[in-house]
Amino acid sequence: MRRGLVAEVRAVTGLSREALARKLGIAPGQLDEWASGRQTPKSAVDAMHRLLEKASSAPARTRSRVEAARLDDAIVCADGIEYLKTLPSDSVDMILSDIPYGIGLDDWDVLHANTNSAYMGESAGQKRAGAVFKRRRKPINGWSSADRRIPKEYYEWCSTWAPEWLRVLKPGGTAMVFAGRRLVHRCIAALEDAGFNHRDLLAWHRPTAVLRAQRLSGIFQKRGELAEAARWRGWRVGNLRPTFEPIVWAFKPYKVTIADNMLDHEVGAFNLEAFEAATGGRSNVVDAGFESGEAGHHEAQKPVRLLEALIELCTVRGAVVLDPFAGSGSTAVAARKCRRRCVAIERDPAHVRVAKKRLSNLDT
Ligand SMILES: C[S@@+](CC[C@H](N)C(=O)[O-])C[C@H]1O[C@@H](n2cnc3c(N)ncnc32)[C@H](O)[C@@H]1O
Repeated sequence: MRRGLVAEVRAVTGLSREALARKLGIAPGQLDEWASGRQTPKSAVDAMHRLLEKASSAPARTRSRVEAARLDDAIVCADGIEYLKTLPSDSVDMILSDIPYGIGLDDWDVLHANTNSAYMGESAGQKRAGAVFKRRRKPINGWSSADRRIPKEYYEWCSTWAPEWLRVLKPGGTAMVFAGRRLVHRCIAALEDAGFNHRDLLAWHRPTAVLRAQRLSGIFQKRGELAEAARWRGWRVGNLRPTFEPIVWAFKPYKVTIADNMLDHEVGAFNLEAFEAATGGRSNVVDAGFESGEAGHHEAQKPVRLLEALIELCTVRGAVVLDPFAGSGSTAVAARKCRRRCVAIERDPAHVRVAKKRLSNLDT
């Protein structure tokens, strides 16, 4: 057998090891033996050539599925919205992405045109309050029309990529999206309006989260109004301790039965057993923290163990996972550990360097 025929057929057809074995009517282990150079029966070689021919004469939609498959473990430095337009339709098993939350965590997280001084952390009061406001950049009262447009502009931003996500996913393919508590509903609406079905909202339960709510009594104390400070003891401004982050679970509709869709595309159902093995539970609230030495690559980093569980839940081995807002490459690391392929796109070259390093560390 020509060396690498099995690998070539898998790359060109986009078939998983199991799906190719099924098509050839053999056990997957047999395929591994042929791939490692063991004599392959002529009938099997012919069958694989037929599959290659069929794939190269197939309509562009099918052919291009393979181009995506060839993007094995690619960390791409590009705009994740524009780059998706170059990917073929129906080619991706899962999109797993921690998108910008639109809460002004950093410059990359500012997705609207609001430049009023309070939002930018530059009002007189905020300047007096110091770094905390400057960094957090959020509308304090939502009094201006520019503040009130922020959620709408976030929806508009999500709508720039949601239709492309739908296009590149296989029928039944999953989009798992980390989105912030404040604007997640706008993300869900944009996904729905693009044609996704919203299946569930999972919660990532974080072991550590800091309570930042400001003490009202402290404000009165600073003003010298001590009676008011005593009266408002215990009252705070801001949020409760943010111990969970929502994860949107949406999927691309499929036209056949779920069983047929699984045979055709290997996506649509979910692997509860694998999820349970990864998380220790069956619940849509998932506890996960960072392993020792794991954190510190990105200010919005997510634990690889959590991402692994989500990948195991929705995909089979060898599947293509896409992350258009990849940051420090946590999704790519998780995909590699689960033996999936990953196309991770990030536009900041510094983060791309970190992501590549994290992936290459896995090889050593
Ligand atoms: C929430 S962070 C992802 C962090 C990641 N989960 C991790 O563990 O490192 C979102 C990332 O999206 C990137 N980003 C924002 N807009 C982008 C765009 N249009 N194209 C590509 N990357 C983008 C930001 O630079 C940021 O690193």
